[in-house]
Amino acid sequence: MLDWESTFATRSSRMKASEIRELLKLLDRPDIISFAGGIPDPELFPNDAFREAYAEIFDGPSVGAALQYSVSEGYRPLREWLAGQMAALGIPASVDNIFITSGSQQGLDYLGKLFLSPKDTALVTWPTYLGALQAFNAYEPNYDQLNPAGNRTPAAYAQAAAEAGGRVKFAYLSADFANPTGETVSRAGREHVLALAEELDIAIIEDAAYQSLRYDGEAIPPILALEIARKGDINSTRTIYCGSFSKTLAPGLRVGWICAAEPVIRKLVLMKQAADLHSSTINQMAIATVAGRGFEAQVAKIHKAYRQRRDAMLSALEKYMPAGVTWTKPEGGMFIWVTLPKGSDGAELLAKSIQTAKVAFVPGRAFFADGSGENTLRLSFSCANDRMIDEGIRRLADLIRGEVAQAA
Ligand SMILES: Cc1ncc(COP(=O)(O)O)c(C=O)c1O
Repeated sequence: MLDWESTFATRSSRMKASEIRELLKLLDRPDIISFAGGIPDPELFPNDAFREAYAEIFDGPSVGAALQYSVSEGYRPLREWLAGQMAALGIPASVDNIFITSGSQQGLDYLGKLFLSPKDTALVTWPTYLGALQAFNAYEPNYDQLNPAGNRTPAAYAQAAAEAGGRVKFAYLSADFANPTGETVSRAGREHVLALAEELDIAIIEDAAYQSLRYDGEAIPPILALEIARKGDINSTRTIYCGSFSKTLAPGLRVGWICAAEPVIRKLVLMKQAADLHSSTINQMAIATVAGRGFEAQVAKIHKAYRQRRDAMLSALEKYMPAGVTWTKPEGGMFIWVTLPKGSDGAELLAKSIQTAKVAFVPGRAFFADGSGENTLRLSFSCANDRMIDEGIRRLADLIRGEVAQAA
């Protein structure tokens, strides 16, 4: 039999099923309260609007185009609509600065492919979005820690990357309501990342998957907007903005976008020609129709539901968690990040929690490129109702209280 492992390319060696993912797959049990999945609530999908949009496509003159091959850049009316949205965020962009991807996850894969040669360094926050690490891992990079509030010098980053056998190529971060922490990078933090990128002469990948999901507090301009304010024109910028319809409309259609300087977009278009030709045309058309008719109303509906769930989870944490446990207070998104006392292990806690408390969450370690973060966990409130939240957090807190008491 073929020795598959020695025949696969080295780039596949870091592609491993995570034990935690395997465990979480089993959690579709009705007796378990799950705060694990980081997915939108399907009850909030704009089903009727999509039904209408698809019916119109099938009954109208564009059905042939909808089902035909199309251009790699993406469906033009959708790119035009997105150019308007970007302008409203302080990012004046033309359609030539906008490229449609099959979900923003594909954008992350393409950007890894575009920038990373083996042994190059990607700067990521500790913790960061696990899917970004998975996307970049295929291109065999090293990781170094990006800290928007830090003071490490550019020279120190450059030296570490040279010692690892390559160069720093980009800094990747989610500035708004990050997965997994729910935290937002301050304006000063964004400016700091920009200054660092200027000094190192690297790109910035701004993952804006949750950007529209702000429930309170004041919006901070995207990093790309701050850079355009300095440079005057998107085509002189180094920030690559990755957007998604997954958290606002629906993830199953797989439609996201990248907004960036034209040289980057042109290269991505070539990459898409080689990879999948183009994203689903009919889905882009449906998204363009649904977004064009009611994006703001849909976003308002989601805000109302998720804000309430976030508040319920924050109150339950306050009410039940023992001393020594801390958590973030996100102004948006889907996640709260919990830090347990030092010495606790989130993965062990999950195993016990599934057995006894019957509550699921994601242990934090998987989100750290260096494998640290044992004493952290991610809780998602997006798919839970108030009763589940109160009951689930109470049971989890009881379990943690027992564990902490035992360790003391
Ligand atoms: C931070 C972040 N970026 C990107 C994605 C990918 O989303 P999609 O490919 O559905 O746009 C996700 C999905 O959970 C995410 O949390």
